Amino acid sequence: MRSEYCGALNTKYIDQTVTLCGWVHRRRDHGGVIFIDLRDRDGIVQVVFDSDSEENFALADKVRSEYVLQVTGKVRARDAATVNANMLTGEIEVYGTDLTILNSSEIPPFPLNEHGTVGEDVRLKYRYLDLRRQEMQNNLRIRSKVTTAIRNYLDDNGFLDIETPILTRATPEGARDYLVPSRTHENKFFALPQSPQLFKQLLMVSGFDRYYQIAKCFRDEDLRADRQPEFTQIDIETSFMSKEEIMSIAEGMVKSLFVQHMDVALDEFPRIPYVEAIAKYGSDKPDLRIPLELVDIKDLLTDVEFKVFSGPANDPKGRIAALKIDDGNEKLTRKQIDDYTAFVGIYGAKGLAYIKVNDTSDLEDGLQSPIVKFLPNEVRGAILQRVGAENGDLIFFGADKATIVSESLGALRCKLGEDLDLYTCEWAPLWVVDFPMFEEAEKGWTSLHHPFTSPSCTPEELNANPGKALSVAYDMVLNGTELGGGSVRIHDPKMQQTVFEILNIGKAEQREKFGFLLDALQHGAPPHGGLAFGLDRLIMLMTDSDSIRDVIAFPKTQTAACVMTDAPGDVDLKQLRELNIRLRGNKQDG
Ligand code: AMO
Ligand code: AMP
Repeated sequence: MRSEYCGALNTKYIDQTVTLCGWVHRRRDHGGVIFIDLRDRDGIVQVVFDSDSEENFALADKVRSEYVLQVTGKVRARDAATVNANMLTGEIEVYGTDLTILNSSEIPPFPLNEHGTVGEDVRLKYRYLDLRRQEMQNNLRIRSKVTTAIRNYLDDNGFLDIETPILTRATPEGARDYLVPSRTHENKFFALPQSPQLFKQLLMVSGFDRYYQIAKCFRDEDLRADRQPEFTQIDIETSFMSKEEIMSIAEGMVKSLFVQHMDVALDEFPRIPYVEAIAKYGSDKPDLRIPLELVDIKDLLTDVEFKVFSGPANDPKGRIAALKIDDGNEKLTRKQIDDYTAFVGIYGAKGLAYIKVNDTSDLEDGLQSPIVKFLPNEVRGAILQRVGAENGDLIFFGADKATIVSESLGALRCKLGEDLDLYTCEWAPLWVVDFPMFEEAEKGWTSLHHPFTSPSCTPEELNANPGKALSVAYDMVLNGTELGGGSVRIHDPKMQQTVFEILNIGKAEQREKFGFLLDALQHGAPPHGGLAFGLDRLIMLMTDSDSIRDVIAFPKTQTAACVMTDAPGDVDLKQLRELNIRLRGNKQDG
């Protein structure tokens, strides 16, 4: 039906007759001339109809926004005065000689030719229209191209694409499962996979050696801008490869995507141990574009009378950290400081002490702050020296349990980076390495990753000091977003037993949850390891989108619903009865 895409036309086509198909983006009537901006997936071109052809002109007069047209016409240059520099096809237009209205359209619920002010709920309800917008077309096009490039890269490196089940058992990735009731097995449920983790390990036992899958994963967890209940992983597993080799293949993949699709050559990714990331950036996914660093000052404050500081200073689990903003005195108003105080409150901080440094040489009167009066001059001097303060700087303080201080100042660091535009570069990738094996929870130890992650010590050392043990795990972080993560796995049954014991997972629970994997590990499991990237997050960063919803064709809302299809929805009683399910609080026959 078409000879060319609208967006592909340029001065090379001048004097050629073309046939286009697309949607009416905008229609303008200038008396004897009607201009139609015709849009397809490649872009927009201006089509002109004049009254020389009465029939076409009458039809063109009838078309409205989002009508579907087929237009034949001749490409011609625009006059210098009418060239539109904002349009890729702005140097030409198509003089229409034939027009067919292929379909009409209702008035769209929001104007597709104006950016912006529409609420996301409306956009999601009419997603098929929202997706017509150029921005969304571009995002999904990049997604498609990047996915193809990933497949090519992994294929070139000897990886096999193998599908794993969607109806399966629970996977231990730490979120809640989405459950699917079984009709044929009364009172039993499938779980949708939180990741293909267990299956990919089994594929290594089977000898496939290098596996990948662009895999749908399902997690019922609290949603944020970079989290969806249903998302896509680039899932990778390998055998007989060291941590270094796995990281190198993964890093190579991301670098090649950036060269091909962003024209950006990323340098070698720095590696930062987990402990250092928390200490300096208050986060295990630090945004290294921002030059601010947290500085620990707990040791300076053990003897002060100010309880807000002396409490955490004398608490082994406490932390006191400072965050210095160069020239912050001038950059930040009192109102902003109040706003930041409220902001850190979201992360549990009870306040945000600060010092405005007016004159470092005058510890008595040169510091402006609600708290300096509680600090002796030697402590004031020691703090200024520790953070390297100069006149005009502003220093924020967090004092509390270590997790609260790290999370709140870590988040404040990112917020300041954004608000004050402190970014020193466009792309800051890194690896976070040397994660602790376990975290201490109320009921004992829990895995920081999953229980199949290999520690970097012997079972004996692990047992002797679980809190000190590190894992052979690695996360890739880009601009403050965790892009991917993985680990070398345990392939030794003795080590696996030790880990289960520390996690207090008894034999019965082991069998019940992952008996099949434990059996497989007894049948010649090779040393293996891998990682998974969040494809949606990668594309979000590559397209500079604010949310992963903007790079998924049909995403869920923040409450994990689809406002277009109205899912999740009701099901009829017959279906429930077949599944042996009765709804609580719902009057129905049994
Ligand atoms: P992990 O749980 O770290 O590891 O997930 C890997 C990557 O998947 C992305 N991701 C998400 N993206 C969008 N919405 C979500 N709800 C969501 N959850 C995770 C992130 C994350 O880095 N099986 C292991 C990997 C391995 O060890 O090989 C796993 O799933 O970008
Ligand atoms: P208060 O004594 O609670 O009035 O607090 C005095 C100053 O210390 C105020 O500027 C508070 O914002 C700040 N502050 C209070 N609690 C904390 C905390 N846990 N960490 C950092 N600053 C705090």
